[in-house]
Amino acid sequence: MKKMLFILAFLLGTLCTASAGNLLYGPWVHDVDEHGFTVVWVTEKPSLDFVTIAPDDGTAFEAKARPRYYETYCGRRVTGRYHKVRIDSLAPGTAWRYRIVGQVLKDGSPYKMSFGPFRKLSPGKRECVVRTFDASADTCRFSMFNDIHFNDARYTALAKPVDPKKCDFLCLCGDIVSYSRHIDTAAKHSIMPIAEKAEKLPLVFARGNHEGRGIDFYKFGSLFPTSTGTFYYSFRHGPAAFIVLDAGEDKPDSSHEYAGTADYDSYRAEETKWLQEAVKDPAFVSAPVKVCLIHVPTFALKDSWYSQLWITKHWTPILEKAGIDLMLCGHHHKWILSEAGQDGHAYPLLVNSNEDRMDVVISAHSIDIKTFDEKGTLTHSWQKEK
Ligand SMILES: [Fe+2]
Repeated sequence: MKKMLFILAFLLGTLCTASAGNLLYGPWVHDVDEHGFTVVWVTEKPSLDFVTIAPDDGTAFEAKARPRYYETYCGRRVTGRYHKVRIDSLAPGTAWRYRIVGQVLKDGSPYKMSFGPFRKLSPGKRECVVRTFDASADTCRFSMFNDIHFNDARYTALAKPVDPKKCDFLCLCGDIVSYSRHIDTAAKHSIMPIAEKAEKLPLVFARGNHEGRGIDFYKFGSLFPTSTGTFYYSFRHGPAAFIVLDAGEDKPDSSHEYAGTADYDSYRAEETKWLQEAVKDPAFVSAPVKVCLIHVPTFALKDSWYSQLWITKHWTPILEKAGIDLMLCGHHHKWILSEAGQDGHAYPLLVNSNEDRMDVVISAHSIDIKTFDEKGTLTHSWQKEK
């Protein structure tokens, strides 16, 4: 009898978990700053969800006693499948557990809208935790991935050794997927291979040229919301200030591959105006170390394509004048070290291979970079003393 009750309890538990399973992908965190972060997740069915948070201090979560954070649009809560909730007004360098609860939409009619019961979407097996950035931290540590191009197994293997206790964020430096025919597929391959790490570490997304491909390309903004609403933005953590840039597509807008859909010259012109102002921001100017994250490197090689030459011509002088210490890139699918003074730029530029993870540790006085392959073998290293 006791055994039967145990089996029944187990089955009921399984069913309850399954019935709560409207969560399809995530959650993960993007757009972290000193005072907040944005939680992102995807549900299978349209739902009305909210987030609660509690300090990561080992105390009981007490979800009912915690404030609820909603996604709203012009005064009304949003019901949908792609969810993003901003949490703000937090203190720098503080760690928070976050949980998601939702109700599946039953009837979306304008005058008799109704929802199913409240269901816990997260946490699943593991508690989700995020720490706000802190300009006064001694170090800034992150791991970077790029040019994964749907290779889930490699992505997971590269991320596996990352220790969330020794890392502040994960940088996805472009071409994690090759295109987005359907945003669900792009979300799955961008997040799920590193889902376990993304529950503990915020993401920083630098769009690659391939993430501009496919009919659903414009939905990447719902996966990686930013403070600027676009894929160029800046942030600060510890001694390091970051400018994230987006070179767009690699060929001229008139190239037949884009079928008349490309307008990147205008986009890059707008981005140039933004960059000119972003490098004057006191948080950037005062940072002991300044880093640019961009998928396409700003160097002029003899076989460089259109956008690479364009950004080298227009953005390199701005970045040089701003005194950046380092540029980190992908795109070329191999390790390239282009030291300051080489290839038309006055700052060191490193290109990470598509087969490696790049681990970066920045202090006020030094930058330390190591790359590792899937087997954990050290493949390259580079240091700079300030
Ligand atoms: Fe690329």
